[in-house]
Amino acid sequence: MNNKTKIAVLVSGGGTNLQAILDACDSGIITHGEVKCVISSKAGAYALERAKNHGIKGYVVSKKELGGQEAFEKKITDILREHEIELIVLAGFMSILSENFTKKYEERILNVHPSLIPSFCGKGYYGLRVHEAALSYGVKVTGATVHFVNEIPDGGRIILQKAVYIQDGDTPEVLQKRVMEQAEWKILPQAVEIVSKEICKNK
Ligand code: GAR
Repeated sequence: MNNKTKIAVLVSGGGTNLQAILDACDSGIITHGEVKCVISSKAGAYALERAKNHGIKGYVVSKKELGGQEAFEKKITDILREHEIELIVLAGFMSILSENFTKKYEERILNVHPSLIPSFCGKGYYGLRVHEAALSYGVKVTGATVHFVNEIPDGGRIILQKAVYIQDGDTPEVLQKRVMEQAEWKILPQAVEIVSKEICKNK
């Protein structure tokens, strides 16, 4: 279809969620959106290789090198404008975006978080730490959430959630892998399609 929603994926690491989105575009799970660029907050992130292998332009935007949040967000905004981006997907993006930024993209930024929000979320809960917290609390069910991003970390409207059972003997690494396989890699592409379709409808 023409006129697909133009998507930017923001990453910091391995990029398995980016891969899930790219695979979903290829397999027809995502039909209303296309990934136009990938922006990494870290040089050398494997996610950039995944973008390259898919013929998608990748950028490194380092807050440290640019000297602060304002310059970091300005650089990201410039890239988004260049590609006329309509939907931003945070897929393992380990930097918090300021209210100044999120306000400009109301209900146009998605994030995947590896727990059932409102559990184990907010400032300080990211990556393996989320699974360590779930295991040390002793919950029996965890999962993943895709939500819109606003000024509150992990606080925006929820789009999709999926539960995953914790098993005896789980380590944070084992649990992280199960949550990715059973939840994140499924609900993130689904949510991208839902929101891309909605944006297409309103064009
Ligand atoms: C994923 O588990 C994602 O949910 C999590 O980081 C991992 C990135 O993996 N994100 C957060 O914790 C954000 N608060 P990936 O680079 O392989 O997609």
